Amino acid sequence: MKILFYDAVNYDKESFDKELQNYEGIEITYQEIDISPKTVSLAAGYDAICAFVNSDLSAPVIDRLHEIGISLILLRCAGFNNVDLKKTEEYGMTVLRVPGYSPEAVAELAMTLALSVNRHLHKSYIRVRENNFSLVGLTGINFYQKTAGIVGTGKIGAAMCRICRGFGMRVIAYDMYPNKELDFVEYMSLEDVLKQSDLLSLHCPLTGETRHLINKDTIAMMKDDVVLVNTSRGGLVKTEDLIQGIRSKKFFGVGLDVYEEEGDNVFENREDELLEHSVTARLLSFPNVIVTSHQGFLTREALAAISRTTLQNALDYEQGTIDRVNLVEP
Ligand code: NAI
Repeated sequence: MKILFYDAVNYDKESFDKELQNYEGIEITYQEIDISPKTVSLAAGYDAICAFVNSDLSAPVIDRLHEIGISLILLRCAGFNNVDLKKTEEYGMTVLRVPGYSPEAVAELAMTLALSVNRHLHKSYIRVRENNFSLVGLTGINFYQKTAGIVGTGKIGAAMCRICRGFGMRVIAYDMYPNKELDFVEYMSLEDVLKQSDLLSLHCPLTGETRHLINKDTIAMMKDDVVLVNTSRGGLVKTEDLIQGIRSKKFFGVGLDVYEEEGDNVFENREDELLEHSVTARLLSFPNVIVTSHQGFLTREALAAISRTTLQNALDYEQGTIDRVNLVEP
């Protein structure tokens, strides 16, 4: 099987090449550019394409993939909100993903963001480097004995619940399907979670229902001085309303690994550009906000698991033994 791998960076190549040694008959060509209406034709002559979390898999791209005979899309990520599933269904294409490569990798980043923004590490790091040893403005809040609210307790949310319990926090959660293994978690309505949380961490997928889950009305329900963390998908938070909330001093801190405008930024070096009109620039202007560039998945363990499952998905497809858990269905 010949796979064209879009948007490849050095850590992808390293982990896939290492894992490829265990998979005979699979050939990967790495392509640095991402898939788009302009670059989709490069896939002609291949059996499958491999794409990532922000790859453009919209209708025009799927149309063209179908025209050039691609019937398998391998997503090397968990989320699939970037894929036009109506189109893939229409063409009978198979879309496979990596559902749970390392939930702890993402949950640990969520806690890292919460702790960093709470204890102002982004400021103290810079200060000490410049021989400024003042502590003014660096006061944080103990998480111990506070309430952590987790929205979405699937694999990553469950890992976050366990981490928060380890910090001695009371853990409350909202999910339509409570996770029975989390016997220490108190499930309640979303509204109650919003009202009671000192630390609020989002771990539900982006769907029509969850888009802008965090908006001016839900922000108004939150406790003052809440720490909000989003490592799930940018679209869960209505950025304009978040900015209003930050301005009105609702939040003690905000940690975002994902945000609505990230599409053009993620994994790109734009250091010479002036981001004049961007919401990213506005978010970055707040002293109590930390933004990272969708790096929740970026640990050695997660990368190894992603490569393994993606290659296994390719093999299972070829052998007709697809794992239905990995199958993306509309
Ligand atoms: P999962 O499928 O195991 O869990 C999602 C949970 O959310 C399920 O329990 C589901 O019932 C719940 N849910 C669905 N709709 C909900 C709603 N309206 N309100 C509350 N809960 C709802 O998914 P997993 O693996 O835990 O991933 C969660 C999200 O994390 C993914 O959708 C993805 O967007 C994001 N993610 C981010 C990464 C990063 O690098 N920052 C890496 C991997 C995933």
